[in-house]
Amino acid sequence: MPSLFLFLTNQMSKLGIALIGCGGISLQNHLPGLAMCPDVAVVALCDTDGTTLARASAQTGLDAAFTDYTEVMRRDDVQAVIVATPNVVHAELVLAAIAAGKHVFCEKPMAINYADALSMYQAAERAKVCHMTAFTYRFVPAMRYMGHLIRQGAVGQPYHFRSCRLQDWGTRNIGWRQVQKLAGTGELGDMLSHRIDYAHFLIGEMERLVADTKRFHNVRDGKPSDLEDWVTILADYKVGASGVLESSKVATGRGESAASQDYVEVNGSEGSIVFQLEQPHQLQVTKKGEKALRVISVPQEFLKWPGSPRDPLAGDPLFSFRYDQSFEFIDAIRNQRPCSPSFFDGALAQGVMDAAVKSATDRRWIEVGHLGQDLKQS
Ligand SMILES: NC(=O)c1ccc[n+]([C@@H]2O[C@H](COP(=O)([O-])OP(=O)(O)OC[C@H]3O[C@@H](n4cnc5c(N)ncnc54)[C@H](O)[C@@H]3O)[C@@H](O)[C@H]2O)c1
Repeated sequence: MPSLFLFLTNQMSKLGIALIGCGGISLQNHLPGLAMCPDVAVVALCDTDGTTLARASAQTGLDAAFTDYTEVMRRDDVQAVIVATPNVVHAELVLAAIAAGKHVFCEKPMAINYADALSMYQAAERAKVCHMTAFTYRFVPAMRYMGHLIRQGAVGQPYHFRSCRLQDWGTRNIGWRQVQKLAGTGELGDMLSHRIDYAHFLIGEMERLVADTKRFHNVRDGKPSDLEDWVTILADYKVGASGVLESSKVATGRGESAASQDYVEVNGSEGSIVFQLEQPHQLQVTKKGEKALRVISVPQEFLKWPGSPRDPLAGDPLFSFRYDQSFEFIDAIRNQRPCSPSFFDGALAQGVMDAAVKSATDRRWIEVGHLGQDLKQS
């Protein structure tokens, strides 16, 4: 029976993944991303909502579907777990996965507070499992190329980091995202967490910040909302740059999702670079002595993550870069190396988020320059 033997060997050599939380991001991002990765099989699905679970089961053809995550953690065919639930349960699920010896990918924001994020990072490090968080926009070709140019010295000494995320979500009900006990924070964790990470990626850690938040709608489609629709942070970075970060759900008429405003600019002593998510394969640049921005194309070698099997010219470039995130997780597990971005990056951003909440509440500047060192020594 050589063919059955080969079939069984192939099945056994596949990396088994469980999806916990089978809602929007799992179906739109994780399933197609994992499908692109060689020798990977989604072997279990878990969602507390029966209808969502049935839909995911139908989409994947998988009948290993559970409403209780503890059943998933007990399975020997699951080597890695993807946690894509509302933020409030990330810590519980991730810690259970780590305790069961699984590699773990956790959606952003990693937790609802820094203490939880820290315990997740420490547990993963102690257990020596691969750990990754979903700062998905690091995978945009233009963002990766921008980081490369800055590290090569294209802007010189960074003076300013500026990021602006504007969407129009109007007054529609946004489910768990508008409920503090499920989400932790509103626009801060939902959207600004990515931009906090952009700055870490592009110019390094923050030294101090002052923040403000505002809720414009206490009710969304008849359901109460107790979280902010807008957040801003004014920051000093360790490299000496100033930072201005703003994110809004109520920028009327600005649209939403990938086609709306996601703007990042770094100005330095030698030049400036502008990133806009709407143009994921382009940057705008200028240098000392020039008077205006000019458009440059992202070079071929930056159009996909190193080693990714994705064809960078196939599909919609506003979405397809997301699949490289799955590749990074799988490739790190296979090659027994750290993932990027990891729980370190997730916890660092969470520390900044906690400080932003405190600053907005206490109406004062907060020092955050110790966070990275604290994490490294923890
Ligand atoms: N990286 C990104 O770009 C990105 C984009 C969107 C969402 N996210 C993050 O992904 C996570 C999920 O967001 P979403 O938009 O998919 O939400 P969603 O509401 O569409 O899906 C979440 C699912 O989790 C399920 N769930 C809740 N508690 C559970 C539990 N204890 N066990 C198992 N399942 C449970 C819910 O029933 C729901 O089906 C959030 O943390 C969000 O911030 C990240």
